Amino acid sequence: MNETLIQGAYIVAGLLFILALAGLSKHETAVMGNKYGIVGMAIALAATLWLATKSAGLDALALIVVAMAIGAAIGVTVARKVEMTGMPELIAMLHSFVGLAAVLVGWNSSYESAPYPAIHDVEVFVGVFIGAVTLTGSIVAYLKLSAKIKSAPMILPGRHILNLGIIASFVVMTIAYVLVPHDNTFMRQLLLGLMTLLALFLGWHLVASIGGGDMPVVVSMLNSYSGWAAAAAGFLLNNDLLIITGALVGSSGAYLSFIMCRAMNRSFISVIAGGFGSDGGVVGEAKDYGEHRETNAVEVADLLKNAHDVVITPGYGMATAQAQYAVADLTSKLRARGINVRFGIHPVAGRLPGHMNVLLAEAKVPYDIVLEMDEINEDLPSTDAVLVIGANDTVNPAAQDDPTSPIAGMPVLEVWKAHEVIIFKRSMNTGYAGVQNPLFFKENSAMLFGDAKDRVEDIVKAL
Ligand code: TAP
Repeated sequence: MNETLIQGAYIVAGLLFILALAGLSKHETAVMGNKYGIVGMAIALAATLWLATKSAGLDALALIVVAMAIGAAIGVTVARKVEMTGMPELIAMLHSFVGLAAVLVGWNSSYESAPYPAIHDVEVFVGVFIGAVTLTGSIVAYLKLSAKIKSAPMILPGRHILNLGIIASFVVMTIAYVLVPHDNTFMRQLLLGLMTLLALFLGWHLVASIGGGDMPVVVSMLNSYSGWAAAAAGFLLNNDLLIITGALVGSSGAYLSFIMCRAMNRSFISVIAGGFGSDGGVVGEAKDYGEHRETNAVEVADLLKNAHDVVITPGYGMATAQAQYAVADLTSKLRARGINVRFGIHPVAGRLPGHMNVLLAEAKVPYDIVLEMDEINEDLPSTDAVLVIGANDTVNPAAQDDPTSPIAGMPVLEVWKAHEVIIFKRSMNTGYAGVQNPLFFKENSAMLFGDAKDRVEDIVKAL
């Protein structure tokens, strides 16, 4: 295989990655999209291994194969063990590895000479900076998502000035790094070391100052940063495929974050700048909403028997209870009685984009009755009964009614407009954002306490 063939293989792999991304955007084409990605990655790996053997010999190939075998063994073990609900944490952790790799590649390249030293120096600085921000930002995201640290935003005094100061210092240090003569190793390492520390701090600070409700956007933003970190490493390693792939991941991650910000009515700039322009919200504020009403499975079965239109809005609790099969069973029983059953899916229900859609597809719920929030909201006032199964923040009216709420402005499923609302959960505890839900205290709401799977099965029996 010569140079041209390798470049050809890289172009084919790049095209397959684009097809993979396009395929992953729809239910129906997602499996095919995955296959394109796998073939593209296999071609890219074969070409890269060949290139490494050609330039560094068989010893290098042996080392790479050993490293890949160790990495693959760890990857397969972790991927087999992880629950669907633990995916965001896993993804955040994996992003931190991409960041670390970019930092190591950058530091390694700083010792190499290049035909255009000034451009190379800038590449080193940019690569290490993005890598270090991604590294610590992803670690904090992992710790917050896995509840190892508090998800409430950390508000340091003058935090925006601090962030801007670090970015300005980065620009000044990059210029200094380019200007310092290459034989002044001490000064060059000092500048690179200082900048790495500042970037590590910036990544930690940016994500630490973002509240729990905005974490989904942060994970997809870190996905984007990890792409740009890989692209920067591609420039340093002179590898076109890494540049293309990094740019694809970087831009698609940024676009996904933008769509999610729009869905949650959050400012994109605010989220990527560490909560800039928001006061961080008041988490867990205690308010008295009055009494709630309780119901039981037999009463809910009677309500459903007499209904014409039923909407189910699932959330994170359906995933933890693994209630999707029971919910699918209930759906087919109700449909067999001629009741119109549909699902309303909030864009950030659960813990990762498309979480509910994947669970419902797994339980063979037909695609055409699974609607998005915007499609179902206008039909809710004429709906006889809404079953809120393990959802909380995504059906919280405070997002519309209470400007002081940490989730104020987030579009929600307007379930309280239906004639009757049944809420399946185990207690009166708050949801992910840590705020109480006034829906539970409304006159047309009733709580059905217990594990969502058990309660849905009880209703199926009572039907
Ligand atoms: P949440 O607001 O997290 O509420 C889930 C509810 O499920 C809880 O109130 C919990 O109440 C209940 N629950 C838990 N286990 C249960 C079980 N076994 N049986 C019955 N109920 C159970 O969920 P949501 O409405 O889906 O909202 C998602 C939240 O996660 C949003 O704030 C969103 O921003 C955030 N988030 C989303 C993503 C993405 S991309 N989707 C990623 C990270 C974070 P009990 O404890 O009382 O049972």
